[in-house]
Amino acid sequence: MHVRIRHRVKPFRTVAYDRRRNAVVLIDQRLLPHEFRAIALRDYRETARAIRDMAVRGAGAIAAAAAYGLAQGAAAFDGARPSSFERHVERVYRALASARPTAVDPLHAMDRVRQAMGSGPDVPSRKALACAAAERFASDQVAECEAIGRHGIRLVREGARILTHCNAGALAFVDIGSATAPMYAAWGAGLRFHVYCDETRPRCQGAALTAWELFQHGIPHTVIVDNAAGHLMRQGEIDLVLVGSDRVLGRTGEVANKIGTYTKAVLARHHGIPFYVAIPLSTLDWSTRSGKDIPIEERSADEVLGAWGRPRSGPATYVRIANPGSSARNPGFDVTPPDLITGILTPRGVFRPRDLWPNRHKLA
Ligand code: MRU
Repeated sequence: MHVRIRHRVKPFRTVAYDRRRNAVVLIDQRLLPHEFRAIALRDYRETARAIRDMAVRGAGAIAAAAAYGLAQGAAAFDGARPSSFERHVERVYRALASARPTAVDPLHAMDRVRQAMGSGPDVPSRKALACAAAERFASDQVAECEAIGRHGIRLVREGARILTHCNAGALAFVDIGSATAPMYAAWGAGLRFHVYCDETRPRCQGAALTAWELFQHGIPHTVIVDNAAGHLMRQGEIDLVLVGSDRVLGRTGEVANKIGTYTKAVLARHHGIPFYVAIPLSTLDWSTRSGKDIPIEERSADEVLGAWGRPRSGPATYVRIANPGSSARNPGFDVTPPDLITGILTPRGVFRPRDLWPNRHKLA
């Protein structure tokens, strides 16, 4: 991702691993768009906390953080007995897996690391294998996002007005992003278009993060409140909806994504606007049989009852918006049924949601 720091453009990855310091290094997304800062997490518990507190967020980014966190936890093990090492790794896995429940990518990422570790004959070689597997997961993810861009570029027409929800951009991955991949590819190829970013209450990932990212790339965009999308669609001002996902069920084609995605899909269908979901392969869940079985994260009511912001100068401040004494519900995700989705854009091409299962050999 290109980041402008004091008039200079620098390449950055959202999540990385510093092997020498055994630290997971990530962009602290809680500070954006006001401040750009990378933090180094020295212990797997800190990495798990950063996932839970959303210093790092987005399915692909928390997957990489979890993969690195597992390697980090393994590297910190002090001992030589394989059985104690395995018990320790299991504890680390659980701490990282329980940090956020809806996205399936962290589980797949850590399973890959654990599987790679299994072939090592002793503890030192397992540690080294874990580290290599986490790095491989991160670089494969970047390559997959590039492939999503190559397949998705044809969805973006010159002059298109694209709606996106939440942040499925470079900040939600190691780099590039899923929903943003076709945008970055199209922009790089000289196409010009406009992006509408849903604000995405309550945490405002669209207003804070997607808008920041598009600004870094110089892509024209406008932030809208979540409720404005229907109005713009009715006026004929949206040509395409492009979102990411935290879990796509391979068996049914159902898509879990940030709360409000389902509403946008219903609106898009009503107005005959194509609705695409862009994902890397780690987002595909081949075992869950129904969208009703996807764990939907319920976050703190405080996120709904108030909001965080930053005055022109001074630190971030929380302000209460809702009536004092009123309560709130805060489901973080919803599930969109397959019949509302035009296509699932993957690194292996575009599939209709119900064609995922018959094509599982290409996608696994
Ligand atoms: O709660 P978040 O910010 O971690 O939510 C994840 C998301 O940003 C979205 O649901 C996104 O569209 C898919 S993540 C690639």
